Amino acid sequence: MKHLLATEGLAYDDALAILDTAEEMAAVSSREVKKLPTLRGRTVVNLFYEDSTRTRVSFEAAAKRLSADVVNFSAKGSSVSKGESLKDTVQTLDAMGADAIVIRHSASGSAAQLAASDWSEAAVVNAGDGAHEHPTQALLDALTLRRGWYSGHSATGSPRGTDLAGMKVLIVGDIVHSRVARSNVWLLRTLGAEVHFAAPATLLPYGVVSWPVIVHYSLDEALEAAPDAVMMLRVQAERMGGVFFPTAAEYTRRWGLTDERLARTQAMILHPGPMNRGVEISAAAADSPQAKILDQVAHGVAVRMAVLHLLLTGEH
Ligand code: NCD
Repeated sequence: MKHLLATEGLAYDDALAILDTAEEMAAVSSREVKKLPTLRGRTVVNLFYEDSTRTRVSFEAAAKRLSADVVNFSAKGSSVSKGESLKDTVQTLDAMGADAIVIRHSASGSAAQLAASDWSEAAVVNAGDGAHEHPTQALLDALTLRRGWYSGHSATGSPRGTDLAGMKVLIVGDIVHSRVARSNVWLLRTLGAEVHFAAPATLLPYGVVSWPVIVHYSLDEALEAAPDAVMMLRVQAERMGGVFFPTAAEYTRRWGLTDERLARTQAMILHPGPMNRGVEISAAAADSPQAKILDQVAHGVAVRMAVLHLLLTGEH
């Protein structure tokens, strides 16, 4: 693996290698000294053209825990606002000696374009390209699901080499705008999970009937299928040019994980963040013992350490 651009096409063995390495990285993150020397002298550039809190901070923490030097570049306040192209920006950063470039951009395919270009020799990690993919999010979700699924077997983490066969995962809400949903579908299917969608028809992707998922047009009906995990998605207002549902209150009533629905499910609850509390998820659901939302954040650092380590050292 030279780059991590997508979970679509990510090999089963590579996915498991990332999850297993992430378990080791999680063990490092729980020590008093949270550092490994493996990327000493290497430079990781975070190139963020879109707003982000947890993903950027998480990549930064991951690179630093591996002793890499980190350069954070955000498009706001840079020459990008003067019209500098992605190519010129990347070539400038490359001239400063980047070993890995972590890129978030609003254009689908931007990470793949960078990886295919001769602008830089760096390893490219896609941290979200438009509505296309967000592979490290799906991997941290998979680690969270695997740990939850095997928690009866192991207190410290999930066993090496295990996948999600037999697990039923329900993804709810704004799927059409969600790179998180897309990356999750491909990875969950590769790992053997069954994927369900529940969303209003206006928020389902065109052509969803050909996806390897089971679609429900009612959240209540989807919950009756007894999912092992429910992944709530943020309503991505900033990507909506038109009107996709009548009002926020109506959305919550039909598609929100309300207190009343929470009482009807034993499932683990995931959310990639940022949450709109009171819209797609109630405060009680977000703060319940079933919610793994802060575990997801912690696992994000471990997964990104694993990805940077594997891409830059090639060692399992
Ligand atoms: C997501 C994203 O930006 O794709 N957030 C994240 O990375 N944790 C989802 C979202 O913005 O709703």
